[in-house]
Amino acid sequence: MKTILTGLRANSVFTIGNYLGALLPMVRLAREHSDDYNINLFVPDLHSIISEVDGGDLQANIVRGIKYYIAAGMPLGKNVHIYRQSRVPAHSELCWILNCVATMGEMNRMTQYKEKSEGKASVNVGIFDYPVLMAGDILLYSAEYVPVGEDQFQHIELARNLAMRFNNRYGEVFTVPVSTAEQVKFMGLDEGIRIRDLLNPEKKMSKSTPAENSKIMLDDAPERAAKKIMSATTDSVGKVKFDMWEQPGVSNLLLIEALVTDTPLQDVISTWTGETRYGDLKKKVAESVSEMLGVFQAKLAEVSDEMVYELLESGERYANEVANVKLHEVQKCVGLR
Ligand code: TYM
Repeated sequence: MKTILTGLRANSVFTIGNYLGALLPMVRLAREHSDDYNINLFVPDLHSIISEVDGGDLQANIVRGIKYYIAAGMPLGKNVHIYRQSRVPAHSELCWILNCVATMGEMNRMTQYKEKSEGKASVNVGIFDYPVLMAGDILLYSAEYVPVGEDQFQHIELARNLAMRFNNRYGEVFTVPVSTAEQVKFMGLDEGIRIRDLLNPEKKMSKSTPAENSKIMLDDAPERAAKKIMSATTDSVGKVKFDMWEQPGVSNLLLIEALVTDTPLQDVISTWTGETRYGDLKKKVAESVSEMLGVFQAKLAEVSDEMVYELLESGERYANEVANVKLHEVQKCVGLR
């Protein structure tokens, strides 16, 4: 059975960028495919410690992250596996082996590393190396499909390159995930998703941006989120057109509207192209986002800690079984067994 896999770092509350770029696509794929695919949704908690954990309480953030998965509508059937990365030691083991296959040259080219280390006097090695850990997260489970936002595409390509290099060097052990172009198609999209910062739409929406009005968090009160949308930066062109280069602010609103209401982007674009009153577009998006948050938050309130721990128990049993078999195979190939 093929595997669809993704993970979201649980450092703080998720933004709607995390939600719309990765969590919702994963939920939709799971709903469609959970009879005939393994659906692996994990918390990459070893990735969390590459940067400061907001609120200082990683355990609470992990449990909340899993509650988000459930509140977003993950089906909880027998092929759906939810687990914590740190409870499956094979991830760290494989990361080391893949470190000996990855090159400094390719790691130095990672955009996320450049962005996360920019202007810092001292950068921890984890920030440099986490794409290798991520490659291991994917390859341990032979995942072909990895729904992620556009900012993670370079890491998917790295995972593919490491898998192919390893296979060439040591024998066909790893399933190579499909290319990012095919990932996008599998998600039913034309291109990867990048939700923009509401105040500076040339940048990605990120939980680490300090300005509160630049991002919508999943725990924002719906009215607060609506206000943030109403104050989003647009442009002085004065006419709606979907053009991420020339009009990133309004284009971002169109994309959010399409994803939140599960409407094809082209339909949303047709509805709004040429509209001169940006306020009307903002009002509609504000309504859609606040409605979505209302539903999500009501579901979240119903998810108990007990439910989370129950899911983790079976998910982690499954993950260890699968990951250990693959790790064993890898160790054999490189001569460690
Ligand atoms: P992370 O935790 O930074 O982000 C989680 C997911 O959210 C997506 N995302 C966005 N998508 C669209 N627009 C945005 N503004 C936006 N912001 C975030 C990210 O692309 C991601 O899909 N290294 C990963 C986590 C990870 C992982 C993995 C993912 C670890 N191992 C294995 C897939 C498979 C990360 O830091 O994502």
